[in-house]
Amino acid sequence: MVRSYLDWLIDLPWSIPDEKPIDIAEARKILDQDHYGLEKIKSRIIEYLAVRKLAPGGKAPILCFLGPPGVGKTSLGQSIARAMSRPFVRVSLGGVHDEAEIRGHRRTYVGALPGNIIQAIKKAGARNCVMMLDEIDKMGRGIQGDPSAAMLEVLDPEQNGTFRDNYLGVPFDLSRVVFIATANMLDGVPGPLLDRMELISLAGYTEDEKLEIAKRYLVRRQLEANGIKAEQVEIDPDALRLIIKSYTREAGVRNLEREIGKVLRNVAVQIAEGSTSHATIAPKDIVSLLGQPRFENEIAQRTSIPGVATGLAWTPVGGDILFIEASRTPGRGGLTITGQLGDVMRESVQAALTLVKGRASQLGIDPAIFERSDIHVHVPAGATPKDGPSAGVAMFTALTSLLTDRTVRSDTAMTGEISLRGLVLPVGGIKEKVVAAAAAGLTRVMLPARNKRDYDDIPAGARAKLEFIWLERVDEAIAAALEPAKATPAAAE
Ligand SMILES: Nc1ncnc2c1ncn2[C@@H]1O[C@H](COP(=O)(O)OP(=O)(O)O)[C@@H](O)[C@H]1O
Ligand SMILES: [Mg+2]
Repeated sequence: MVRSYLDWLIDLPWSIPDEKPIDIAEARKILDQDHYGLEKIKSRIIEYLAVRKLAPGGKAPILCFLGPPGVGKTSLGQSIARAMSRPFVRVSLGGVHDEAEIRGHRRTYVGALPGNIIQAIKKAGARNCVMMLDEIDKMGRGIQGDPSAAMLEVLDPEQNGTFRDNYLGVPFDLSRVVFIATANMLDGVPGPLLDRMELISLAGYTEDEKLEIAKRYLVRRQLEANGIKAEQVEIDPDALRLIIKSYTREAGVRNLEREIGKVLRNVAVQIAEGSTSHATIAPKDIVSLLGQPRFENEIAQRTSIPGVATGLAWTPVGGDILFIEASRTPGRGGLTITGQLGDVMRESVQAALTLVKGRASQLGIDPAIFERSDIHVHVPAGATPKDGPSAGVAMFTALTSLLTDRTVRSDTAMTGEISLRGLVLPVGGIKEKVVAAAAAGLTRVMLPARNKRDYDDIPAGARAKLEFIWLERVDEAIAAALEPAKATPAAAE
Protein backbone atom coordinates (compact mmCIF):
# COMPACT_ATOMS: atom_id res chain seq x y z
CA MET A 1 0.00 0.00 0.00
CA VAL A 2 2.78 2.38 0.94
CA ARG A 3 4.59 1.44 -2.18
CA SER A 4 1.76 2.28 -4.50
CA TYR A 5 1.29 5.54 -2.62
CA LEU A 6 4.95 6.39 -3.16
CA ASP A 7 4.64 5.41 -6.80
CA TRP A 8 1.83 7.90 -7.16
CA LEU A 9 3.83 10.64 -5.52
CA ILE A 10 6.83 9.97 -7.74
CA ASP A 11 4.79 9.71 -10.93
CA LEU A 12 2.98 12.99 -10.53
CA PRO A 13 4.40 15.94 -12.45
CA TRP A 14 5.23 18.29 -9.60
CA SER A 15 7.27 20.81 -11.54
CA ILE A 16 6.07 23.06 -14.33
CA PRO A 17 7.60 22.24 -17.68
CA ASP A 18 8.92 25.11 -19.80
CA GLU A 19 6.01 26.90 -21.36
CA LYS A 20 6.27 27.86 -24.96
CA PRO A 21 4.62 31.24 -25.46
CA ILE A 22 1.42 30.93 -27.45
CA ASP A 23 1.74 31.86 -31.10
CA ILE A 24 -1.57 33.53 -31.87
CA ALA A 25 -1.29 33.31 -35.65
CA GLU A 26 -0.46 29.64 -35.37
CA ALA A 27 -3.34 29.10 -32.95
CA ARG A 28 -5.76 30.67 -35.39
CA LYS A 29 -4.46 28.35 -38.08
CA ILE A 30 -4.90 25.29 -35.89
CA LEU A 31 -8.46 26.24 -34.98
CA ASP A 32 -9.30 26.73 -38.65
CA GLN A 33 -7.66 23.45 -39.56
CA ASP A 34 -9.67 21.46 -37.06
CA HIS A 35 -13.06 23.09 -37.37
CA TYR A 36 -15.18 24.46 -40.13
CA GLY A 37 -17.19 27.61 -39.46
CA LEU A 38 -17.83 28.56 -35.81
CA GLU A 39 -16.33 32.00 -36.48
CA LYS A 40 -17.65 33.71 -33.37
CA ILE A 41 -16.52 30.89 -31.15
CA LYS A 42 -13.09 30.73 -32.68
CA SER A 43 -12.56 34.44 -32.24
CA ARG A 44 -13.62 34.15 -28.61
CA ILE A 45 -11.07 31.38 -28.15
CA ILE A 46 -8.37 33.51 -29.79
CA GLU A 47 -9.16 36.33 -27.37
CA TYR A 48 -8.87 33.90 -24.54
CA LEU A 49 -5.51 32.64 -25.77
CA ALA A 50 -4.25 36.19 -26.29
CA VAL A 51 -5.09 37.08 -22.71
CA ARG A 52 -3.37 33.97 -21.47
CA LYS A 53 -0.33 34.85 -23.50
CA LEU A 54 -0.09 38.38 -22.10
CA ALA A 55 -0.84 37.38 -18.52
CA PRO A 56 0.25 33.76 -18.13
CA GLY A 57 -0.10 33.76 -14.35
CA GLY A 58 -3.35 35.75 -14.34
CA LYS A 59 -6.72 34.36 -13.50
CA ALA A 60 -8.14 33.32 -16.80
CA PRO A 61 -11.86 32.62 -16.94
CA ILE A 62 -12.92 29.00 -17.27
CA LEU A 63 -14.55 28.45 -20.62
CA CYS A 64 -17.63 26.27 -20.78
CA PHE A 65 -18.88 25.06 -24.16
CA LEU A 66 -22.61 24.67 -24.12
CA GLY A 67 -24.54 22.87 -26.81
CA PRO A 68 -26.15 19.73 -28.19
CA PRO A 69 -24.15 16.53 -28.78
CA GLY A 70 -21.85 16.33 -31.78
CA VAL A 71 -21.34 20.05 -32.41
CA GLY A 72 -17.64 19.89 -31.61
CA LYS A 73 -17.36 20.82 -27.94
CA THR A 74 -14.86 18.13 -27.04
CA SER A 75 -12.89 18.52 -30.21
CA LEU A 76 -12.64 22.31 -29.73
CA GLY A 77 -10.99 21.56 -26.39
CA GLN A 78 -8.47 19.36 -28.13
CA SER A 79 -7.73 22.13 -30.60
CA ILE A 80 -7.15 24.59 -27.79
CA ALA A 81 -4.62 22.20 -26.27
CA ARG A 82 -2.92 21.86 -29.63
CA ALA A 83 -2.88 25.63 -30.09
CA MET A 84 -1.28 26.07 -26.67
CA SER A 85 1.08 23.10 -27.29
CA ARG A 86 0.05 21.47 -24.08
CA PRO A 87 -1.14 17.94 -23.36
CA PHE A 88 -4.89 17.37 -23.36
CA VAL A 89 -6.84 15.22 -20.91
CA ARG A 90 -10.52 14.64 -20.67
CA VAL A 91 -12.29 13.97 -17.39
CA SER A 92 -15.73 12.61 -17.98
CA LEU A 93 -18.06 13.84 -15.27
CA GLY A 94 -21.18 12.12 -16.57
CA GLY A 95 -22.50 9.87 -13.83
CA VAL A 96 -20.09 11.08 -11.18
CA HIS A 97 -22.11 11.41 -8.02
CA ASP A 98 -19.62 10.81 -5.29
CA GLU A 99 -17.26 13.38 -3.90
CA ALA A 100 -14.52 10.73 -3.61
CA GLU A 101 -14.51 10.33 -7.39
CA ILE A 102 -13.22 13.88 -7.65
CA ARG A 103 -11.17 14.04 -4.50
CA GLY A 104 -10.02 10.45 -4.02
CA HIS A 105 -10.37 8.00 -1.14
CA ARG A 106 -8.36 8.12 2.04
CA ARG A 107 -5.51 5.63 2.03
CA THR A 108 -7.08 3.70 4.88
CA TYR A 109 -9.61 2.28 2.39
CA VAL A 110 -8.76 -0.95 0.64
CA GLY A 111 -7.99 -0.27 -2.99
CA ALA A 112 -7.98 3.48 -2.44
CA LEU A 113 -6.94 5.64 -5.38
CA PRO A 114 -6.62 9.34 -6.06
CA GLY A 115 -9.64 11.09 -7.59
CA ASN A 116 -10.32 11.87 -11.24
CA ILE A 117 -8.47 15.16 -11.23
CA ILE A 118 -5.17 13.81 -9.93
CA GLN A 119 -5.46 10.75 -12.16
CA ALA A 120 -5.94 13.01 -15.15
CA ILE A 121 -2.89 15.06 -14.17
CA LYS A 122 -0.84 11.90 -14.08
CA LYS A 123 -2.17 10.82 -17.44
CA ALA A 124 -1.36 14.20 -18.95
CA GLY A 125 2.09 14.13 -17.40
CA ALA A 126 2.11 17.88 -17.00
CA ARG A 127 0.86 20.23 -14.36
CA ASN A 128 -0.12 22.79 -16.95
CA CYS A 129 -2.21 20.54 -19.16
CA VAL A 130 -5.52 21.45 -20.75
CA MET A 131 -8.12 19.56 -18.75
CA MET A 132 -11.57 19.14 -20.20
CA LEU A 133 -14.29 18.64 -17.62
CA ASP A 134 -16.69 16.93 -19.98
CA GLU A 135 -20.44 16.96 -19.38
CA ILE A 136 -20.29 18.93 -16.18
CA ASP A 137 -24.09 19.12 -16.23
CA LYS A 138 -24.37 15.34 -15.85
CA MET A 139 -22.64 15.37 -12.51
CA GLY A 140 -25.06 13.96 -9.99
CA ARG A 141 -25.38 14.26 -6.29
CA GLY A 142 -25.34 11.06 -4.28
CA ILE A 143 -25.40 10.12 -0.64
CA GLN A 144 -21.61 10.20 -0.48
CA GLY A 145 -21.27 13.94 -0.53
CA ASP A 146 -21.66 16.42 -3.34
CA PRO A 147 -19.07 16.23 -6.10
CA SER A 148 -19.87 19.75 -7.24
CA ALA A 149 -18.52 21.07 -3.93
CA ALA A 150 -15.19 19.42 -4.70
CA MET A 151 -15.43 20.75 -8.24
CA LEU A 152 -15.88 24.26 -6.91
CA GLU A 153 -12.59 23.97 -5.12
CA VAL A 154 -10.91 22.64 -8.24
CA LEU A 155 -12.11 25.58 -10.30
CA ASP A 156 -11.56 28.31 -7.70
CA PRO A 157 -8.33 30.15 -8.48
CA GLU A 158 -8.06 31.15 -4.81
CA GLN A 159 -8.07 27.56 -3.65
CA ASN A 160 -6.81 25.35 -6.41
CA GLY A 161 -3.17 26.24 -5.78
CA THR A 162 -3.40 23.91 -2.82
CA PHE A 163 -5.87 21.28 -3.98
CA ARG A 164 -6.02 18.48 -1.47
CA ASP A 165 -6.70 15.00 -2.75
CA ASN A 166 -7.68 12.59 0.03
CA TYR A 167 -5.37 9.90 -1.24
CA LEU A 168 -2.31 12.08 -1.73
CA GLY A 169 -2.80 13.82 1.58
CA VAL A 170 -0.52 16.66 0.47
CA PRO A 171 -1.62 19.70 -1.51
CA PHE A 172 -1.15 19.67 -5.25
CA ASP A 173 -1.01 22.87 -7.27
CA LEU A 174 -3.69 22.94 -9.98
CA SER A 175 -3.41 26.65 -10.63
CA ARG A 176 -1.61 26.22 -13.96
CA VAL A 177 -4.12 23.76 -15.38
CA VAL A 178 -6.26 25.20 -18.17
CA PHE A 179 -9.77 24.02 -17.36
CA ILE A 180 -12.43 23.85 -20.04
CA ALA A 181 -15.91 22.54 -19.29
CA THR A 182 -18.64 21.26 -21.57
CA ALA A 183 -22.37 20.86 -20.97
CA ASN A 184 -25.49 20.00 -22.95
CA MET A 185 -27.78 22.10 -20.86
CA LEU A 186 -27.51 24.56 -18.04
CA ASP A 187 -30.20 23.03 -15.86
CA GLY A 188 -27.88 20.46 -14.38
CA VAL A 189 -25.07 22.84 -13.52
CA PRO A 190 -25.08 24.03 -9.92
CA GLY A 191 -25.30 27.83 -9.67
CA PRO A 192 -21.98 28.46 -7.91
CA LEU A 193 -20.17 26.44 -10.57
CA LEU A 194 -21.94 28.38 -13.27
CA ASP A 195 -20.67 31.59 -11.70
CA ARG A 196 -17.09 30.55 -12.22
CA MET A 197 -17.48 29.78 -15.88
CA GLU A 198 -17.82 31.77 -19.03
CA LEU A 199 -20.42 30.21 -21.30
CA ILE A 200 -19.90 29.83 -25.02
CA SER A 201 -22.94 28.39 -26.82
CA LEU A 202 -22.80 26.26 -29.93
CA ALA A 203 -26.21 26.05 -31.55
CA GLY A 204 -25.84 23.36 -34.17
CA TYR A 205 -25.22 23.36 -37.88
CA THR A 206 -27.35 24.02 -40.92
CA GLU A 207 -27.53 21.58 -43.77
CA ASP A 208 -24.93 23.49 -45.79
CA GLU A 209 -22.54 23.65 -42.90
CA LYS A 210 -22.95 19.94 -42.30
CA LEU A 211 -22.21 19.30 -45.95
CA GLU A 212 -18.98 21.30 -45.73
CA ILE A 213 -17.98 19.54 -42.51
CA ALA A 214 -18.69 16.18 -44.11
CA LYS A 215 -16.71 17.01 -47.25
CA ARG A 216 -13.73 18.42 -45.44
CA TYR A 217 -13.49 16.34 -42.30
CA LEU A 218 -15.86 13.46 -41.77
CA VAL A 219 -15.32 11.68 -45.08
CA ARG A 220 -11.57 11.99 -44.75
CA ARG A 221 -11.64 10.64 -41.22
CA GLN A 222 -13.90 7.73 -42.10
CA LEU A 223 -11.74 6.87 -45.11
CA GLU A 224 -8.80 6.62 -42.80
CA ALA A 225 -10.71 4.62 -40.20
CA ASN A 226 -11.74 2.09 -42.82
CA GLY A 227 -8.39 1.83 -44.56
CA ILE A 228 -9.57 3.29 -47.86
CA LYS A 229 -7.45 5.69 -49.88
CA ALA A 230 -8.98 8.93 -51.06
CA GLU A 231 -8.48 8.04 -54.72
CA GLN A 232 -10.36 4.77 -54.35
CA VAL A 233 -13.74 6.33 -53.75
CA GLU A 234 -15.62 9.37 -54.86
CA ILE A 235 -18.71 10.53 -53.03
CA ASP A 236 -21.11 12.81 -54.84
CA PRO A 237 -21.93 15.87 -52.70
CA ASP A 238 -25.61 15.26 -53.49
CA ALA A 239 -25.27 11.83 -51.90
CA LEU A 240 -23.92 13.49 -48.77
CA ARG A 241 -26.77 15.96 -48.81
CA LEU A 242 -29.23 13.11 -49.07
CA ILE A 243 -27.67 11.41 -46.05
CA ILE A 244 -27.90 14.67 -44.11
CA LYS A 245 -31.51 15.27 -45.08
CA SER A 246 -33.08 11.85 -45.04
CA TYR A 247 -30.96 9.73 -42.72
CA THR A 248 -30.04 12.05 -39.87
CA ARG A 249 -31.88 14.56 -37.80
CA GLU A 250 -29.57 16.15 -35.30
CA ALA A 251 -28.00 19.48 -34.42
CA GLY A 252 -24.47 18.12 -34.56
CA VAL A 253 -22.72 15.79 -36.97
CA ARG A 254 -22.25 12.64 -34.96
CA ASN A 255 -24.84 10.44 -36.69
CA LEU A 256 -23.81 11.89 -40.01
CA GLU A 257 -20.27 10.65 -39.42
CA ARG A 258 -21.66 7.23 -38.45
CA GLU A 259 -23.75 6.97 -41.62
CA ILE A 260 -20.81 8.01 -43.77
CA GLY A 261 -18.83 5.30 -42.00
CA LYS A 262 -21.48 2.74 -42.93
CA VAL A 263 -21.35 3.74 -46.58
CA LEU A 264 -17.58 3.55 -46.64
CA ARG A 265 -17.46 0.18 -44.91
CA ASN A 266 -19.54 -1.13 -47.74
CA VAL A 267 -17.02 0.28 -50.19
CA ALA A 268 -14.24 -1.31 -48.12
CA VAL A 269 -15.85 -4.73 -48.61
CA GLN A 270 -16.00 -4.20 -52.37
CA ILE A 271 -12.38 -3.15 -52.50
CA ALA A 272 -11.21 -5.97 -50.25
CA GLU A 273 -13.06 -8.53 -52.37
CA GLY A 274 -11.40 -7.11 -55.42
CA SER A 275 -14.74 -6.47 -57.12
CA THR A 276 -13.86 -2.82 -57.63
CA SER A 277 -10.84 -0.59 -57.40
CA HIS A 278 -12.65 2.71 -57.67
CA ALA A 279 -16.14 3.23 -56.31
CA THR A 280 -18.39 6.21 -56.95
CA ILE A 281 -21.30 6.87 -54.67
CA ALA A 282 -24.24 8.71 -56.13
CA PRO A 283 -27.54 9.61 -54.45
CA LYS A 284 -29.21 6.58 -56.06
CA ASP A 285 -26.80 4.21 -54.28
CA ILE A 286 -27.68 5.47 -50.84
CA VAL A 287 -30.94 3.55 -50.44
CA SER A 288 -29.24 0.23 -51.13
CA LEU A 289 -26.44 1.10 -48.70
CA LEU A 290 -28.38 2.66 -45.86
CA GLY A 291 -31.90 1.34 -46.33
CA GLN A 292 -35.06 3.37 -46.69
CA PRO A 293 -34.82 7.05 -45.73
CA ARG A 294 -35.67 7.61 -42.13
CA PHE A 295 -36.97 11.17 -42.18
CA GLU A 296 -38.42 11.65 -45.61
CA ASN A 297 -41.14 14.14 -46.17
CA GLU A 298 -42.50 13.67 -42.70
CA ILE A 299 -43.76 17.22 -42.64
CA ALA A 300 -45.63 17.08 -45.92
CA GLN A 301 -47.29 13.83 -44.93
CA ARG A 302 -48.39 14.97 -41.54
CA THR A 303 -49.66 18.37 -42.54
CA SER A 304 -51.64 16.96 -45.45
CA ILE A 305 -54.84 16.97 -43.40
CA PRO A 306 -56.45 20.01 -41.77
CA GLY A 307 -55.70 20.45 -38.08
CA VAL A 308 -51.95 19.83 -38.04
CA ALA A 309 -49.47 22.68 -37.66
CA THR A 310 -45.68 22.51 -37.52
CA GLY A 311 -44.28 24.17 -34.42
CA LEU A 312 -40.73 24.76 -33.29
CA ALA A 313 -39.41 23.62 -29.96
CA TRP A 314 -36.32 24.33 -27.98
CA THR A 315 -34.79 21.30 -26.30
CA PRO A 316 -31.58 20.86 -24.36
CA VAL A 317 -30.09 19.14 -27.38
CA GLY A 318 -30.91 21.89 -29.86
CA GLY A 319 -34.05 22.97 -31.63
CA ASP A 320 -36.55 20.57 -33.10
CA ILE A 321 -39.76 20.66 -35.02
CA LEU A 322 -42.92 19.38 -33.42
CA PHE A 323 -46.41 18.82 -34.67
CA ILE A 324 -49.55 20.13 -33.06
CA GLU A 325 -52.53 17.99 -34.02
CA ALA A 326 -56.11 18.96 -33.46
CA SER A 327 -59.13 16.85 -34.24
CA ARG A 328 -62.84 17.12 -33.72
CA THR A 329 -65.45 14.53 -32.85
CA PRO A 330 -69.19 14.96 -32.29
CA GLY A 331 -69.71 15.95 -28.69
CA ARG A 332 -70.67 18.72 -26.35
CA GLY A 333 -67.91 21.29 -26.32
CA GLY A 334 -65.25 19.33 -24.45
CA LEU A 335 -61.51 19.86 -24.78
CA THR A 336 -59.03 17.00 -24.35
CA ILE A 337 -55.29 17.66 -24.30
CA THR A 338 -52.74 14.85 -24.55
CA GLY A 339 -49.06 14.36 -25.23
CA GLN A 340 -47.61 14.92 -21.73
CA LEU A 341 -47.94 18.67 -21.86
CA GLY A 342 -46.94 20.76 -18.89
CA ASP A 343 -49.36 23.18 -17.25
CA VAL A 344 -48.20 26.21 -19.18
CA MET A 345 -48.60 24.42 -22.48
CA ARG A 346 -52.06 23.16 -21.54
CA GLU A 347 -53.08 26.68 -20.70
CA SER A 348 -51.87 27.88 -24.04
CA VAL A 349 -54.13 25.32 -25.75
CA GLN A 350 -57.05 26.79 -23.82
CA ALA A 351 -56.02 30.32 -24.72
CA ALA A 352 -55.76 29.32 -28.38
CA LEU A 353 -59.23 27.78 -28.32
CA THR A 354 -60.72 30.86 -26.68
CA LEU A 355 -59.10 33.01 -29.34
CA VAL A 356 -60.53 30.86 -32.11
CA LYS A 357 -63.99 30.99 -30.55
CA GLY A 358 -63.79 34.76 -30.22
CA ARG A 359 -62.83 35.12 -33.85
CA ALA A 360 -65.14 32.42 -35.22
CA SER A 361 -67.26 34.57 -37.51
CA GLN A 362 -64.25 36.51 -38.73
CA LEU A 363 -62.50 33.21 -39.57
CA GLY A 364 -65.56 31.81 -41.26
CA ILE A 365 -66.33 29.23 -38.62
CA ASP A 366 -69.92 28.44 -37.69
CA PRO A 367 -70.06 29.29 -33.94
CA ALA A 368 -72.51 26.44 -33.37
CA ILE A 369 -69.78 23.96 -34.20
CA PHE A 370 -68.23 24.43 -30.75
CA GLU A 371 -71.32 23.15 -28.93
CA ARG A 372 -71.69 20.20 -31.23
CA SER A 373 -68.11 18.90 -31.01
CA ASP A 374 -65.39 17.78 -28.65
CA ILE A 375 -61.95 18.99 -29.58
CA HIS A 376 -58.81 16.98 -28.97
CA VAL A 377 -55.36 18.56 -29.15
CA HIS A 378 -52.42 16.21 -29.20
CA VAL A 379 -48.70 16.85 -29.45
CA PRO A 380 -47.06 13.61 -30.62
CA ALA A 381 -43.85 12.12 -29.22
CA GLY A 382 -45.84 11.60 -26.06
CA ALA A 383 -42.94 10.14 -24.16
CA THR A 384 -41.10 13.43 -23.97
CA PRO A 385 -42.62 15.94 -21.59
CA LYS A 386 -43.14 19.32 -23.21
CA ASP A 387 -43.88 22.64 -21.72
CA GLY A 388 -43.73 26.35 -22.27
CA PRO A 389 -45.96 28.89 -23.92
CA SER A 390 -44.10 29.13 -27.22
CA ALA A 391 -46.40 26.80 -29.17
CA GLY A 392 -49.34 29.19 -28.80
CA VAL A 393 -49.33 30.39 -32.40
CA ALA A 394 -49.03 26.81 -33.68
CA MET A 395 -51.99 25.75 -31.52
CA PHE A 396 -54.11 28.61 -32.73
CA THR A 397 -53.17 27.79 -36.30
CA ALA A 398 -53.89 24.07 -35.88
CA LEU A 399 -57.32 24.75 -34.38
CA THR A 400 -58.22 27.28 -37.05
CA SER A 401 -57.02 24.87 -39.71
CA LEU A 402 -59.20 22.13 -38.26
CA LEU A 403 -62.33 24.21 -37.99
CA THR A 404 -62.02 25.96 -41.34
CA ASP A 405 -60.96 22.75 -43.09
CA ARG A 406 -57.96 24.47 -44.64
CA THR A 407 -54.62 22.66 -44.37
CA VAL A 408 -51.52 24.38 -42.99
CA ARG A 409 -48.78 24.95 -45.53
CA SER A 410 -46.24 22.16 -45.22
CA ASP A 411 -43.28 24.48 -45.85
CA THR A 412 -44.03 26.70 -42.86
CA ALA A 413 -43.14 26.37 -39.19
CA MET A 414 -44.07 28.74 -36.41
CA THR A 415 -43.33 29.71 -32.87
CA GLY A 416 -44.70 32.39 -30.57
CA GLU A 417 -46.71 32.88 -27.43
CA ILE A 418 -50.23 34.25 -27.75
CA SER A 419 -52.14 36.60 -25.54
CA LEU A 420 -55.89 36.48 -25.14
CA ARG A 421 -56.12 39.70 -27.09
CA GLY A 422 -54.52 38.01 -30.06
CA LEU A 423 -51.06 39.52 -29.75
CA VAL A 424 -48.02 37.39 -30.55
CA LEU A 425 -45.48 37.60 -27.75
CA PRO A 426 -41.73 36.95 -28.01
CA VAL A 427 -40.22 33.58 -27.07
CA GLY A 428 -36.76 32.16 -26.40
CA GLY A 429 -34.46 29.86 -28.34
CA ILE A 430 -35.07 31.56 -31.71
CA LYS A 431 -31.65 30.72 -33.08
CA GLU A 432 -31.88 27.00 -32.27
CA LYS A 433 -35.44 26.80 -33.52
CA VAL A 434 -34.68 28.49 -36.81
CA VAL A 435 -31.64 26.28 -37.38
CA ALA A 436 -33.85 23.24 -36.77
CA ALA A 437 -36.47 24.53 -39.20
CA ALA A 438 -33.87 24.98 -41.92
CA ALA A 439 -32.41 21.57 -41.17
CA ALA A 440 -35.83 19.97 -41.48
CA GLY A 441 -36.18 21.39 -44.97
CA LEU A 442 -38.78 24.03 -44.20
CA THR A 443 -38.64 27.22 -46.18
CA ARG A 444 -40.75 29.65 -44.18
CA VAL A 445 -40.76 30.46 -40.49
CA MET A 446 -43.23 32.63 -38.65
CA LEU A 447 -41.73 34.33 -35.62
CA PRO A 448 -42.96 36.96 -33.18
CA ALA A 449 -42.17 40.45 -34.48
CA ARG A 450 -40.70 41.27 -31.10
CA ASN A 451 -38.05 38.59 -31.66
CA LYS A 452 -36.55 40.58 -34.54
CA ARG A 453 -33.67 41.46 -32.22
CA ASP A 454 -32.60 37.78 -32.38
CA TYR A 455 -32.29 37.87 -36.15
CA ASP A 456 -28.59 38.75 -36.09
CA ASP A 457 -27.78 35.62 -34.10
CA ILE A 458 -29.24 33.32 -36.72
CA PRO A 459 -26.49 31.70 -38.81
CA ALA A 460 -26.31 33.07 -42.35
CA GLY A 461 -26.80 29.59 -43.82
CA ALA A 462 -30.19 29.27 -42.15
CA ARG A 463 -31.13 32.85 -42.97
CA ALA A 464 -30.49 32.34 -46.64
CA LYS A 465 -32.76 29.33 -46.77
CA LEU A 466 -35.77 30.73 -45.05
CA GLU A 467 -38.37 33.33 -45.59
CA PHE A 468 -39.09 35.12 -42.34
CA ILE A 469 -42.58 36.22 -41.47
CA TRP A 470 -42.77 38.46 -38.42
CA LEU A 471 -46.04 38.31 -36.53
CA GLU A 472 -47.59 41.08 -34.48
CA ARG A 473 -51.01 39.42 -34.20
CA VAL A 474 -52.32 35.89 -34.62
CA ASP A 475 -54.51 36.89 -37.54
CA GLU A 476 -51.38 37.41 -39.59
CA ALA A 477 -50.40 33.81 -38.85
CA ILE A 478 -53.64 32.55 -40.34
CA ALA A 479 -53.26 34.67 -43.44
CA ALA A 480 -49.72 33.44 -44.02
CA ALA A 481 -49.93 29.82 -42.96
CA LEU A 482 -53.21 28.36 -44.18
CA GLU A 483 -53.82 27.11 -47.68
CA PRO A 484 -56.82 28.72 -49.35
CA ALA A 485 -60.14 26.96 -48.74
CA LYS A 486 -60.77 24.08 -51.07
CA ALA A 487 -63.64 24.42 -53.52
CA THR A 488 -65.02 21.01 -52.63
CA PRO A 489 -64.48 20.46 -48.92
CA ALA A 490 -63.34 16.93 -48.12
CA ALA A 491 -65.53 14.86 -45.85
CA ALA A 492 -63.65 15.35 -42.62
CA GLU A 493 -65.35 13.22 -40.03
N1 LIG B 1 -17.21 22.56 -37.15
C1 LIG B 1 -16.68 21.33 -37.24
N2 LIG B 1 -15.71 21.08 -38.14
C2 LIG B 1 -15.17 19.84 -38.25
N3 LIG B 1 -15.52 18.79 -37.51
C3 LIG B 1 -16.48 18.97 -36.59
C4 LIG B 1 -17.11 20.24 -36.41
N4 LIG B 1 -18.01 20.12 -35.43
C5 LIG B 1 -17.96 18.84 -35.01
N5 LIG B 1 -17.04 18.14 -35.70
C6 LIG B 1 -16.69 16.72 -35.52
O1 LIG B 1 -17.82 16.04 -35.05
C7 LIG B 1 -17.46 15.04 -34.11
C8 LIG B 1 -18.23 15.18 -32.84
O2 LIG B 1 -17.75 16.27 -32.11
P1 LIG B 1 -17.53 16.26 -30.54
O3 LIG B 1 -16.46 17.25 -30.22
O4 LIG B 1 -17.38 14.89 -30.02
O5 LIG B 1 -18.93 16.84 -30.11
P2 LIG B 1 -19.48 17.16 -28.65
O6 LIG B 1 -18.34 17.05 -27.70
O7 LIG B 1 -20.01 18.55 -28.81
O8 LIG B 1 -20.57 16.19 -28.43
C9 LIG B 1 -15.98 15.19 -33.89
O9 LIG B 1 -15.35 14.20 -34.61
C10 LIG B 1 -15.66 16.57 -34.44
O10 LIG B 1 -14.35 16.65 -34.91
MG1 LIG C 1 -18.28 15.64 -26.14
